[in-house]
Amino acid sequence: MDIQYFPSTEAWGRYRQFLVDLIITHGCKSICEIGGGANPWLPIEFVEEHGINYLIVDISAEELAKADNRYQKLVLDITKPVTGELPACDFVFSRMLAEHVKDPLSFHQNIFRILKPGGLAFHFFPTLFAPPFVLNFLLPETLSYWLLEKVQSGRQRGGKRSKFPAFYRWCRGPLRSQIARFKKLGYQIVHYHSFFGNEGYYKRFRPLAKLDQWATSYLCRNPQPWLTSYAYLVLKK
Ligand SMILES: C[S@@+](CC[C@H](N)C(=O)[O-])C[C@H]1O[C@@H](n2cnc3c(N)ncnc32)[C@H](O)[C@@H]1O
Repeated sequence: MDIQYFPSTEAWGRYRQFLVDLIITHGCKSICEIGGGANPWLPIEFVEEHGINYLIVDISAEELAKADNRYQKLVLDITKPVTGELPACDFVFSRMLAEHVKDPLSFHQNIFRILKPGGLAFHFFPTLFAPPFVLNFLLPETLSYWLLEKVQSGRQRGGKRSKFPAFYRWCRGPLRSQIARFKKLGYQIVHYHSFFGNEGYYKRFRPLAKLDQWATSYLCRNPQPWLTSYAYLVLKK
């Protein structure tokens, strides 16, 4: 199992390359993105060039309608029993979905079911107990929405970004309890890359940004899995 720690700027900066590298290295041809909604992460040109069968699944027809119509789309709640609507896949991934899922057991079980033997699941999600996500978790939805608008002004520009309620269930760094959950479902943990810091949230508050930089650098040298802010989790069936 590969457990590593990095600053959170890398979580955003190398996401697409990490995703593409996994797909190419493992020769994945049947791919499903869960919660792809308005912003599917594989460019349609990449999908066509590599002859990939790529399906975007989302609970919201409204979000899916915002995505390019050249993508294959399916409206489905991934926590409900899957009964053949989803094809067998060799790669399933999600980005910023896991924290919104109320029933993480069904979520990860369903993905396990649709994966072919040896198939990979890759989830990129925010983790507790990073301070901005603790706040988002504790505050009423209207207040957390207002705060997010303050720290990320112009978030709605372009009309493609919405805010969804977040529960952060099973959204933790590489804690022993977290690893045990996935093993119990039958997964092998391939990579658990965790990230510290939330620089993006503090851009308008210089002292907080400085403090965040200092804490990030300290935690990367002295990792504490309870304090991570994001994770790349790669699981194998
Ligand atoms: C925060 S958005 C992330 C969208 C995109 N993955 C991204 O990174 O920009 C979360 C998405 O997950 C979808 N979603 C939430 N719960 C879901 C569920 N149970 N099954 C499928 N999709 C779900 C939402 O409708 C929304 O489109």
